[in-house]
Amino acid sequence: MSERQAGNAVRLQVAREDAFSTDETLHSGEREFLMRRIRQSLRTQDAVLVAHYYTAPDIQRLADETGGIVSDSLEMARFGYEHPASTVVVAGVRFMGETAKILSPEKRVIMPTLEATCSLDLGCPADEFAAFCDQHPDRTVVVYANTSAAVKARADWVVTSSIAVDVIRHLHARGEKILWAPDKHLGDYVRRESGADVLLWDGACIVHEEFKAVELEQMRARNPQARVLVHPESPAGVIEQADVVGSTSQLLRAVTELDADTFIVATDSGLFHKMREAAPGRTFLEAPTAGRSATCNSCAHCPWMAMNGLRNLDTALQSGADEIHVDEAVARRAMVSLGRMLDFGRTRRKEVVGAGDA
Ligand code: 13P
Ligand code: SF4
Repeated sequence: MSERQAGNAVRLQVAREDAFSTDETLHSGEREFLMRRIRQSLRTQDAVLVAHYYTAPDIQRLADETGGIVSDSLEMARFGYEHPASTVVVAGVRFMGETAKILSPEKRVIMPTLEATCSLDLGCPADEFAAFCDQHPDRTVVVYANTSAAVKARADWVVTSSIAVDVIRHLHARGEKILWAPDKHLGDYVRRESGADVLLWDGACIVHEEFKAVELEQMRARNPQARVLVHPESPAGVIEQADVVGSTSQLLRAVTELDADTFIVATDSGLFHKMREAAPGRTFLEAPTAGRSATCNSCAHCPWMAMNGLRNLDTALQSGADEIHVDEAVARRAMVSLGRMLDFGRTRRKEVVGAGDA
């Protein structure tokens, strides 16, 4: 293990221990009070709630009820950018709030907590990443959205899991060699899918990396009719067993498209809320991890996503404290790579709609 990897491992362990789960216990009166006050604040402050699928069901309900959105990270970025509200409230992790701010610098962007980070972001410090890029000037730099604004500013392209393979295929077809960061599992997956020359940064998602291939085989043997849905941040041995590999939105769509009663799902269990809504009566099983312990060191739930709760969402709206700020020069540069992602996504959506119309 290199010095950098060892440093990252320690940093991640400390961050994980610092993250606190809010999976709040609220008595019903308090819950109703907070939900009502949040709805009202969103209305009076011209604010829209943009939530990720991994957040608590109550937050997802609020986003749906108030004209916001619950979605994957690409759609969160697009929705916040295109929505006319002057305040965007991002329930998710910090890179999602930063992305919203970079895309809409004129808007106020607040989050329930600015402490909610991501192991991929933490494992890719901007200065070390810039040095890595400088060593490989012949490569097109593609970074996953789960990175800081400064890392995005150093990149040629930003991608999310829903368009990563398509973007890399597109660049490969143009003869470009890729430098990919930070998720090595997703990077390895896009390399295999596209056949491109992809040099990987050594980062991982601490949630998805915990899914276990051997135990998954055993679970499939016990549930032979089940279909397996896997987020591509998971290790290769888990991805290989998937019926569908995709972003959170793509996995959600799969439960309505596949003819199955049982699904084994290798992603954060927060997505089960929408999966149950979309396909009621089906059974959803968490893909196996090393197990739930007191510190939840290996369970299918992101400790940083779990930091979003009704209490801190309400406080953020009342006080306006947890506002995202991004250095203007950094944001201007990051806008270039993020803009390419949005343009690419827009063109692809038109192609899909066009093909559907044909
Ligand atoms: P999606 O873009 O698929 O929602 O992924 C975001 C993420 O952080 C997954 O862990
Ligand atoms: Fe980051 Fe993993 Fe949490 Fe997604 S699930 S926000 S990749 S740590």
